[in-house]
Amino acid sequence: MKALRLSPDQVHVGSLILVNGDYDYREPSSSLALHPLTYVAPVLLRRRAAVLFTGLMDEIGGWEGIVPVSGYRSLAEQTDIWNDSLAEHGKDFTSAYVARPGHSEHQTGLALDLGLKKENIDFLCPDFPDSGICRSFQKRAPEYGFIKRYPPGKEGITGISYEPWHFRYVGTPHGEIMEKEGLTLEEYVFFLRNFPHGKHPYLFAAGGRWITVSWLAARRDEVTWLTVDDRLPYSVSGDNVDGFIITEWRDGYVA
Ligand code: DAL
Ligand code: ZN
Repeated sequence: MKALRLSPDQVHVGSLILVNGDYDYREPSSSLALHPLTYVAPVLLRRRAAVLFTGLMDEIGGWEGIVPVSGYRSLAEQTDIWNDSLAEHGKDFTSAYVARPGHSEHQTGLALDLGLKKENIDFLCPDFPDSGICRSFQKRAPEYGFIKRYPPGKEGITGISYEPWHFRYVGTPHGEIMEKEGLTLEEYVFFLRNFPHGKHPYLFAAGGRWITVSWLAARRDEVTWLTVDDRLPYSVSGDNVDGFIITEWRDGYVA
């Protein structure tokens, strides 16, 4: 077993951080390691998200029909997008489709807007139909750790209108769990509080193995200690609220 020392800052770091109107994005002290998705368009994502996105696109033969439109945005870029949209489309449209500067998932390097390849792709609302190659991408996305972040019918929870083009990397197996449970990231992060670490974790079977997901409250302004079985793979992400989400791959095979 291994004891991990988690500092209060780590609550705001990781692939499961909730960034929305209520929870802002805390810029890390060192710059993000970002990777380009293609050599033609300057669209950047965090390394792991870029690797998984490329894997999915290769798998479905997506490059012919799908274009990455927008990935990582700095705070200054999100501010320009917000101001330009306000000037062009007004307040109602802007608050429905653009996150306030400081509150955009695009600032994390984990969010990606995709468009169907065609002439004149709309930058804010690219066409991403529920058919053809776009549908194939959307169907396989959870397996690769990507979720459709702003689904229809959940506008009251996400605070954003339906955006079929916006995908968020949350990692595996979280994309599949959220799909299975029908939860947005807002709902998932709070759902996991029902599964405290070391007591009764959420159990999920993937690839013939058991995986547990659990939540640990962060100690306020203090170090939080977490004990994990380090003989097996695990990952820890902050939730950007007040805790940590722990994912542990177990050694028992699913019967
Ligand atoms: N379009 C999403 C909500 C953003 O601006 O981050
Ligand atoms: Zn987006």
